[in-house]
Amino acid sequence: MKTQVGIIGGGPSGLLLSQLLYVNGIDSVVLEKHSKQHVLSRIRAGLLEQGTTQMLDEAGVAAGLSKNGLEHEGVDLVFEGRSCRVDFFGLTGKKMTIYGQTEVTRDLYEAREKSAGCVLHEVSDISLSALDTEKPEIGFYHHDQAKSLQCDFVVGCDGYHGVSRMAMPEAIKREYQSSFPFGWLGVLSETPPVSPELVYAYHQRGFALCSMRSTTRSRYYIQVPLDEQIDDWSDDRFWEELKKRLPPGLARELITGPSIEKSIAPLRSFVCEPMRWKSLFLAGDAAHIVPTTGAKGLNLAVSDVRYLSRALSKYYQSRDSRGLDNYSRQALARVWKSSRFSWSLTQLLHQPYDRDSAFSSRIRRAEFEYLLTSEVARLSFAENYVGLPY
Ligand code: APR
Ligand code: PHB
Repeated sequence: MKTQVGIIGGGPSGLLLSQLLYVNGIDSVVLEKHSKQHVLSRIRAGLLEQGTTQMLDEAGVAAGLSKNGLEHEGVDLVFEGRSCRVDFFGLTGKKMTIYGQTEVTRDLYEAREKSAGCVLHEVSDISLSALDTEKPEIGFYHHDQAKSLQCDFVVGCDGYHGVSRMAMPEAIKREYQSSFPFGWLGVLSETPPVSPELVYAYHQRGFALCSMRSTTRSRYYIQVPLDEQIDDWSDDRFWEELKKRLPPGLARELITGPSIEKSIAPLRSFVCEPMRWKSLFLAGDAAHIVPTTGAKGLNLAVSDVRYLSRALSKYYQSRDSRGLDNYSRQALARVWKSSRFSWSLTQLLHQPYDRDSAFSSRIRRAEFEYLLTSEVARLSFAENYVGLPY
């Protein structure tokens, strides 16, 4: 098999890159280890920056988003019962859109299938070779047959647990990580959202987030210790704990119902530098992980794909490789700024559980007071929340 760009991973990063390359007349093959049904069964965040919705429009996959996406202009931060609304649209002129990652992935699959894109599922035993040449190869098995894909470039869109980052020589790789000693217990329910805008609540018992997927489907999270077991959390226990962490007025409005999905996820930061080695490029979770708090995971994957798809288009149009040579530096600059925001927001909104010194709890309160009393502080929050310029 031959193609111009070999893409490992059929999640949002891989599918969006393949679709954007197609729109620019560049051939690619996507190799995904799971079935399409498995990929579409994943429940992930669903808060899209304006830049992300523009990229989905550029890829020709914004119809569902335009029809069903919920545009938001502000967000509520609640701290020890006091509420601070950040009017990010008024402050930045940008909106955020609620539209589930599952729906984004489904829209991308439909577009790839409509344009007869080559997305191979249930591939296994992927091996990368000749990455330090201009003709790298991807070996893999598909339907029990050994295959080989010759390409000009290989892009690892295979997430944190993928193989592409492992193919980078240890001597050139630098990995940075920081994990929080707690996670999020998330529930999806067919109930109307408790508030028209998202509510991030800090409470002595722990953080709580009120989000949504539509006007009839809600997404709620509560902070839990890392060793919590999902089986110990009945729906009733979850709803009671969530109410304890919300302002009384909001708790009274909460409409509960059976969970249609319930899971616990850790909160951690990870960045791999560089994001390129010779003919191998990394994009999305393959290169970086951010705490879900800032909802930046998908949006950072999209910004990587934006930089890389433009660089590849320039290369194939005019053999100008400056974008490719600059990709890692450009992508990492935005990754680190988004990581900073997500990390600091997690620090602000979560109860440390362990010995949170009286000093650090006062610092947390002072940070909230600053947001409450300073438009400059809210502008700084807003420009990070809506997504920094590319
Ligand atoms: N071979 C082929 N495919 C693989 C391999 C492999 N060895 N390892 C992983 N994959 C596939 C996974 O099955 C998955 O479908 O790569 C895909 C990676 O997708 P994601 O993990 O969703 O990562 P990405 O596409 O970068 O999207 C980032 O997803 O996890 C969320 O919070 C994250 O919202 C962010 C988004
Ligand atoms: C979500 O709806 O999953 C969500 C929303 C906002 C966040 C994190 C997650 O900051």
